[in-house]
Amino acid sequence: MTDRPRIKIYGAGSIGNHLAHGFRRRDAAVVICDLDPDALRRTRDEIQPDRYGAFDSEIRLESCDAVADETADVVVVGTPPDTHLAIARDQIARIAPRALVIEKPLATPDLEGCQALATAAREAGTRVYVGYNHTLTPHTVRAEQWLRERPIGAVTTLSALFREHWGGIFGAHPWLSGPKDTYLGFTSRGGGAIGEHSHAINIWQHFAHAAGLGRVAEVSAMLDVVEADGARYDRVAQLSVRSESGCVGTIVQDVVTRPALKWLRVQGSDGFLEWEVNAGPSHDAVRSAAADGEVAEETFEKTRPDDFQPEVDHLLSELEAPSDASPISLERGLETMLVVAAAWRSHETGRNVRIDWDRGCTLEALVSS
Ligand SMILES: NC(=O)c1ccc[n+]([C@@H]2O[C@H](COP(=O)([O-])OP(=O)(O)OC[C@H]3O[C@@H](n4cnc5c(N)ncnc54)[C@H](O)[C@@H]3O)[C@@H](O)[C@H]2O)c1
Repeated sequence: MTDRPRIKIYGAGSIGNHLAHGFRRRDAAVVICDLDPDALRRTRDEIQPDRYGAFDSEIRLESCDAVADETADVVVVGTPPDTHLAIARDQIARIAPRALVIEKPLATPDLEGCQALATAAREAGTRVYVGYNHTLTPHTVRAEQWLRERPIGAVTTLSALFREHWGGIFGAHPWLSGPKDTYLGFTSRGGGAIGEHSHAINIWQHFAHAAGLGRVAEVSAMLDVVEADGARYDRVAQLSVRSESGCVGTIVQDVVTRPALKWLRVQGSDGFLEWEVNAGPSHDAVRSAAADGEVAEETFEKTRPDDFQPEVDHLLSELEAPSDASPISLERGLETMLVVAAAWRSHETGRNVRIDWDRGCTLEALVSS
């Protein structure tokens, strides 16, 4: 018997290893499972030694069948987006873990199964989180504090960009020959810029809530869709959005920009707040200016594992004392999925799409105007 939190991770890939490492740094008992024995071998022989210097032999590596009914406090679903909800529903039915973390994007743009997941989790008493880790890093926490404490006047517009060439992802997956080999090459499977870089939509929503602007009420989107070599994905997604309070803003995500730009600005009538991931080689940054125009900046040194440690620590503290409003709650993940779906609908129809929040996370909530 152990009192250590028990963590079961689906997917021995990039994110599965990041989160396994984060939980092990907090001495949790970790098992990673995968359908592909080669992925388990890579975890032991390549990913962990390359990233962290050695394989942590306390991590158990198993086939998914072997651990399907094994209980856990936290189940992590770190597999491709089009598999997320089936695994999540299966784990809720089998073991009803206390916490279930599903990687971003939560699902596919057809929103299939989103509402049913919310219902199943509520009935089983499982708390569900969606892995938008950037909402929990120290620079995000400081940006929220500055937004409360440093007056920038009335918010006039909010912009968020996650523009990053996906060469880095393929570099980390050398066994893939290109986008067609993975969900990344298919927007319909949760890839493309709109799915892969949905961090921008999510962080826009995070700061819109922090600034009291409400949810996204309306979306107008233009996507650059590429069809090549059997793949079909958006490489650029540009969204104009209007919040429930009437604030108009911009969200841009792409898989073509290098060097990458991961940036947000809350523009006020008297000043601004800026937030940036990887503002330098090893730091995130927050900047703010008030009416006198003087810019204050604070930087936050970090390594790649530090991008995920606040999420891991948040999940462990949620086991102790669940919060009413987690920044990575299922509710927030569903909000992001609805905006992804609205953007896709707007692109396909060439029309504005209004979101009717009373209809849940379903395609019926998208109203073209
Ligand atoms: N928050 C972040 O910054 C971040 C970073 C990387 C990836 N992600 C997300 O994590 C998810 C996975 O991405 P990745 O880069 O780790 O992918 P990956 O290809 O590196 O790993 C996915 C693994 O899942 C396994 N798998 C597929 N279907 C499965 C199933 N049904 N059951 C068990 N295992 C299965 C595959 O064999 C593979 O080993 C995606 O949703 C991605 O967007 C998030």
